[in-house]
Amino acid sequence: MALYSDKVMDHFLKPRNVGVIEDADGIGEVGNARCGDIMKIYLKIDDDIITDVKFETFGCASAIASSSMATELIKGQKVEDAMALTNKAVAEALDGLPDYKMHCSVLAEEAIQKALEDYQSKKSQEK
Ligand code: FES
Repeated sequence: MALYSDKVMDHFLKPRNVGVIEDADGIGEVGNARCGDIMKIYLKIDDDIITDVKFETFGCASAIASSSMATELIKGQKVEDAMALTNKAVAEALDGLPDYKMHCSVLAEEAIQKALEDYQSKKSQEK
């Protein structure tokens, strides 16, 4: 069996939503100390709906594929639904990741959570 599913290869070779949102409403950056990979997620949110999402990932193929898939999964979603996104759901949407690569999908879950927390803390400061 191939190491990576066709979906992982597709999202790695043609990642969706790569880039930066200059006036993002929430930004989350996380890293994995062991492998040194870094992921940054930018969110544009209107009325508690994620209208745009971009990412920059300096990391392995699984990390790039996970960021790409995760951004696709949360685009157009409500903040509270995006909060509930798990790394397992990201890996499943990619038709699986090798066990030793599951931590790469954790980066996507954590970066999104951090960006949503950033959005929520900015919002509460506006009040
Ligand atoms: Fe570090 Fe994949 S090896 S995120």
